[in-house]
Amino acid sequence: MGKGSGYGKVILFGEHFVVHGIPGIVSAIDLTVDAEVKKDVGNGFDVKDERKGASGYAEKKKLQQKESIERILKMFGIDQEKNHLDIWLGGGIAFSGIGSSAASSVAIARAIAEEFDMRLSDKRINEIAYEAEKAYAGTPSGIDNTAATFGGLIWFKKNLSGEKDSIQNLNVSEPVEIVICDTGIVADTKEMVAGVAERKKKYPEKYGKIFKQEEELVVKARKALEGFDLKKVGQLMDMNHKLLQDIEVSCKELDHLVKIARENGAYGAKMTGGGGGGCIVALTPGKKLQEQVAKAIEKEGFKVLRTKVGVKRSI
Ligand code: PMV
Repeated sequence: MGKGSGYGKVILFGEHFVVHGIPGIVSAIDLTVDAEVKKDVGNGFDVKDERKGASGYAEKKKLQQKESIERILKMFGIDQEKNHLDIWLGGGIAFSGIGSSAASSVAIARAIAEEFDMRLSDKRINEIAYEAEKAYAGTPSGIDNTAATFGGLIWFKKNLSGEKDSIQNLNVSEPVEIVICDTGIVADTKEMVAGVAERKKKYPEKYGKIFKQEEELVVKARKALEGFDLKKVGQLMDMNHKLLQDIEVSCKELDHLVKIARENGAYGAKMTGGGGGGCIVALTPGKKLQEQVAKAIEKEGFKVLRTKVGVKRSI
């Protein structure tokens, strides 16, 4: 049996914009999706999805998951007619917006590589997971699979001409507590990404301005993170949320959670990932503040993850 894992992630700056070549900043989180793969005689594959997370997540993503695994098998050159695979998925992340799909693709790719005795570099695993991400995101930027593969805190800029993307490790003085909170709405990243592309085409002037503001914001955010100016990072997260509202990927549930987080002392809060549902991320340095914000949100009946950004890779 082959085993593999992929990191969950939280996009701190630049989701959606990153699909169109604006840089993004992403951090892996300490939750993984874990996969086990066993080959057998026969054909096709069965998936047992035991990831913990939002109810209805696995069900809603089933068709996209099937397509993503077919894409992975194609990348490996594994003939589905001649091999049967039993695939098990477990681990702590099945919310939309925190990279559950990319983490599972990385985990499955690593598990298949092990089961078929192939030694693949992380670079190759990342390429395979990128192909798989197309099933979930349509035209993915590559930021999710990069974080899911390499872990850590990453500056990511897609190369729109198809050449090598720019991927740089960022360092912060120490890991910082965050709260991730799920609206409970399972969103379709593919639809959200396509919606932005459509509106960008329809309103070039308006979107051009917003994209320019985001580009400047991400550069400032990198500086603030590397200088460990967390108040500034928080402010920029708030501003980033506003720009995401402007491109119409937030929703009232996300806005509500962002508001509670801010009212309870978070340095900043924004939606994270594809939007339309899914999660928010709140910057809450220190255990005490993290707990304060997490409890306030839990009190309203939402699911919360307490984790950190800026932790160096461990798998
Ligand atoms: O919703 P998630 O976790 O799949 O994040 C999607 C991030 C996007 O920027 C919206 C798409 C992408 O591929 O970068």
